[in-house]
Amino acid sequence: MPDLKLTVNGIEATVLADPSTSLLSVLRKHFHLTGAKYACGEGQCGACTVMVGGEAVRSCVFPIHNVGQKYVETIEGLANSAHLHPIQQAFLDASAFQCGFCTPGMIMASVALLDRNPAPSVEEIRAGLAGNVCRCGTYSRIVKAVQSAAKAGRNA
Ligand code: FES
Ligand code: FES
Repeated sequence: MPDLKLTVNGIEATVLADPSTSLLSVLRKHFHLTGAKYACGEGQCGACTVMVGGEAVRSCVFPIHNVGQKYVETIEGLANSAHLHPIQQAFLDASAFQCGFCTPGMIMASVALLDRNPAPSVEEIRAGLAGNVCRCGTYSRIVKAVQSAAKAGRNA
């Protein structure tokens, strides 16, 4: 198996793994980053969403050889030592979760959405997060959280 270099949340590491191994598996087993979750394992639910080169990807079906030189960002890399990321804070303020299983993926998908569209309408938020499933059904609060984060970003 080849050595592969990955940069995750600003930290470069060498991983000894088959290039077809999923990014999710490498993040959880090699980097011990367990925020991204394994649920469907088929790219259908978004629980494993992380960012690769600034784009949201389903890490359960994203082989590590596709990462290349791009940086990987996970939920663990969003906050700094003093503050939550504004979207994390907005989810907290809006109580946009129950069990929290979908939350890391929802937040990473929301970060990608607001990077693409800093002032999305409710319909655009719904469409942007349509591939992320919340089994607890907290969708309306998630939309409110994203609206609030977008508004805070515009007022910053
Ligand atoms: S676990 Fe990856 S999309 Fe469901
Ligand atoms: S908060 Fe439980 S799955 Fe979304």
